Amino acid sequence: MPDEEASSAARWDERYRAAAAPPFGEAPNAYLRMVCARPDFAARSALCLADGDGRNGRWLAAQGLAVTAVDVSAVATEQALALDARHGVGVERITADLAEWTPEPGHAWDAVFLIYLQGTGTLRRRALQLAAAALAPGGWLVVEGFSKAQGARPEMGPDDPDRLYDLAELREALPALQVVEALAGRVLLSEGTRHRGEAEVVRYAARRVG
Ligand SMILES: C[S@@+](CC[C@H](N)C(=O)[O-])C[C@H]1O[C@@H](n2cnc3c(N)ncnc32)[C@H](O)[C@@H]1O
Repeated sequence: MPDEEASSAARWDERYRAAAAPPFGEAPNAYLRMVCARPDFAARSALCLADGDGRNGRWLAAQGLAVTAVDVSAVATEQALALDARHGVGVERITADLAEWTPEPGHAWDAVFLIYLQGTGTLRRRALQLAAAALAPGGWLVVEGFSKAQGARPEMGPDDPDRLYDLAELREALPALQVVEALAGRVLLSEGTRHRGEAEVVRYAARRVG
């Protein structure tokens, strides 16, 4: 594991261990739900990258999707598995670093979700590329994260501007996908104790055509 990501795993382990309740809440991310509600969204399998303690993967599994989830934090993954069991859903959960993890050859998903991976630009680009490569034909890639504009709002999100998203970078990292929505702006987040209040975000949904 590269040094930077090893320290990232330790940091996230510590945050999840210290949290009295799931830090981003138990309900799924609002944008993920919006995309899933679209009439043209009919995914039967999903890959959730950086799924943390599992709210998104768990909700997708409860909707009947076959879900694989990856997160660098072993503590978050353990907590996710315990919550999955409590809710009676099964999610394949993998503890791995997205700087290095690659799916089994030939494995593809109808939807890949990348919700608030707050990594460096290098990690983000690698995660986006592996997400795009993991899509089945017609598959959806759905991303939400704090945008560069959130840098001026220190109450939430990463301090380091390299860990913030912008739409140009997403388009550049995902040249082969058909953009369905590419939005940047202010939303009111109400997701646990950590993502609460007005925030500047990007919301990006794109599809593999053919
Ligand atoms: C802000 S949390 C979001 C968690 C989840 N997506 C959600 O919305 O509830 C960011 C997550 O990214 C994970 N993460 C950070 N760096 C990672 C890496 N290199 N590989 C995999 N996961 C990583 C953290 O462990 C953490 O669970």
